[in-house]
Amino acid sequence: MIKTLEWTDGGVRFIDQTKLPTEETYVTCKSYEEVASAIRLMVVRGAPAIGVAAAMGIALGIRDSQAANQAALNCDFDHICDVLAATRPTAVNLFWAIRRMRTKFEQLSAQPIPEVQQQLITEAQRMLVEDIAANEAMGKHGAVLLPSSGGILTHCNAGALATCGYGTALGVIRAAVESGKKLHVFADETRPFLQGSRLTAWELLKDDIPTTLISDNMAGAMMQQGKIDAVIVGADRIAANGDVANKIGTYTVAVLAKEHGIPFYVAAPLSTLDLETPDGSRVPIEQRASKEVTHIAGKQIAPDGVKVENPAFDVTPHRYVAAIITERGVARAPYTEALRELWETENAGLDPPGS
Ligand code: MRU
Repeated sequence: MIKTLEWTDGGVRFIDQTKLPTEETYVTCKSYEEVASAIRLMVVRGAPAIGVAAAMGIALGIRDSQAANQAALNCDFDHICDVLAATRPTAVNLFWAIRRMRTKFEQLSAQPIPEVQQQLITEAQRMLVEDIAANEAMGKHGAVLLPSSGGILTHCNAGALATCGYGTALGVIRAAVESGKKLHVFADETRPFLQGSRLTAWELLKDDIPTTLISDNMAGAMMQQGKIDAVIVGADRIAANGDVANKIGTYTVAVLAKEHGIPFYVAAPLSTLDLETPDGSRVPIEQRASKEVTHIAGKQIAPDGVKVENPAFDVTPHRYVAAIITERGVARAPYTEALRELWETENAGLDPPGS
């Protein structure tokens, strides 16, 4: 399995996703500031991977803290969390991970500092293991939804590289292929950052899963020609009503799928569910540098001074979504009730946020 990220004694080690597919290189971040900049620069990306990277960043920052007492450690903890929280605003897994590390930190407040440091490292490592298990469970729940043969369109990269391993949308595809289904993946290249061509195509070819790369504007034609039997994507944040924020271009694909009567599935762990956000209109959408649009691989492709929009994500209204696949099972409309129920199976005895 591709090691997207891992804890090492020397720091948090990432496969450098900005260098793929031409170079398979690894970087080790030796401080929480370096982890924050790896997230911002998309050395590591994908909502679940960002969450676990942030948890490891917190563990690293606290391990290296010079705090001599609990009050000073609290101060360091708050500062480290603030720095990591400011990296990417849409991926809710980032805030979920920070909240989980904070809960752990608070539970440990009476413990000696070396014990707190060790326990936070253990917690971050546990999150990595749990993420892979969640993806494998999602794979089992979702594989049955895919046809026994045919073309599956995906957008961006919701694979091993976007998680700690196996993937969400690509995990479902992997599980379906492992169960004997004869699938052919169509990967949208995903302008402007090209996660589809650079990352999805790379990881599927590595697994020998038949893959065809298309540019984003070809998706409609592929559907019209009958080449696509289902669409499956990941999510950066799912609002309480089932609206899905995901990589820019996802909404277009969902509308096209509806027009062609093709099911549009979303695969995401419950850590991507944001019950505090009632609907997609409230999801903060990250705006990225215009250079991602005006340049490709460092080469300028637009005139100097042209105005540019670069929202990194869009929102697909829940009415376009045939099902949301989670590690706890599959939610179908009406999503408000179905998602709440899944949340409650994961968090027995707790009141859902926003209730
Ligand atoms: O900007 P990115 O590459 O972090 O965006 C990633 C996506 O949009 C993924 O589809 C999403 O995070 C789900 S990853 C399992």
